[in-house]
Amino acid sequence: MGLALLLLGCGKMGGAMARGWLASGAIDRVMIVDPHRPNDPVIATDSRVFWVSEAAALDELGALDAVVLAVKPQMMDVALTALASKLTGTPLILSIAAGKTIAYFRPYFAATVPLVRAMPNLPAAIGRGVTVCVASDGVTAAHQKLATDLLSACGAVEWVEDEKLIDAVTALSGGGPAYVFALIEAMTEAGVAVGLAPDLASRLARVTVAGAGELVHQSELSASTLRETVCSPGGTTLEAIKVLMEPDDGWQPIITRAIAAAARRAQALGS
Ligand SMILES: NC(=O)c1ccc[n+]([C@@H]2O[C@H](COP(=O)([O-])OP(=O)(O)OC[C@H]3O[C@@H](n4cnc5c(N)ncnc54)[C@H](OP(=O)(O)O)[C@@H]3O)[C@@H](O)[C@H]2O)c1
Repeated sequence: MGLALLLLGCGKMGGAMARGWLASGAIDRVMIVDPHRPNDPVIATDSRVFWVSEAAALDELGALDAVVLAVKPQMMDVALTALASKLTGTPLILSIAAGKTIAYFRPYFAATVPLVRAMPNLPAAIGRGVTVCVASDGVTAAHQKLATDLLSACGAVEWVEDEKLIDAVTALSGGGPAYVFALIEAMTEAGVAVGLAPDLASRLARVTVAGAGELVHQSELSASTLRETVCSPGGTTLEAIKVLMEPDDGWQPIITRAIAAAARRAQALGS
């Protein structure tokens, strides 16, 4: 028999997961709770999907394997208050909400309910993200496998044992896509500074970053080996790389500072 799931919040992230689950064929039914009726054609037309606009409208839920929490963090209190009283049994609770700790969720559920907190990133919306998970006490290997299977709909899945590391994960992979978008902006501006028209510079920067990302994705070589293959001795790229790898004012100290700042902020928001 396949899985029975409840998805609380079917926006960008929840919708991406639901599409992946339905495509996997491992699902018997998905109950979606969201104020908006799903309009994604894959979700809207699938006979395994049931939709209600709010948790208060849920009645006979039946046995659930997992409840996936994918509403915005600021909506979580209201959404959980409405949902928690409707749940029976001990389904796996899987949250992808940024900044909401396992301790935050605990009072809403029975002590025996297994909780997994996960931190995805934006490319999850196209199935190419990376999600890092941490488990509460009582989460078994079978629960971990279920969480991994469910989150694989959004891309790669990693686990950490210490919840404090989620702040570091938030700073690296959570915010990472924004750093790459900022790189595209900076490359565009630098291209204009050496004489390219802004539109052309923007297209070149965008496609270059996308292509390099895809190459890293497909290649088994390390990033440094790939970098070295582009840098011929005495060539032009090496000149730029020398500037970027200056120990005092190259990328490393800046990126280290940026990610440390994000980690500090994640920690402050979570406490
Ligand atoms: N997007 C990212 O890059 C990213 C990265 C890491 C983690 N996350 C986490 O993923 C979660 C979902 O983010 P998202 O970007 O998918 O948000 P989203 O697109 O806004 O989706 C959330 C959905 O939940 C609905 N909703 C609001 N209140 C609800 C309630 N009481 N019950 C049920 N559904 C309700 C929203 O409807 P309305 O639009 O009407 O409010 C919306 O359709 C967040 O907790 C976020 O922290 C997102």
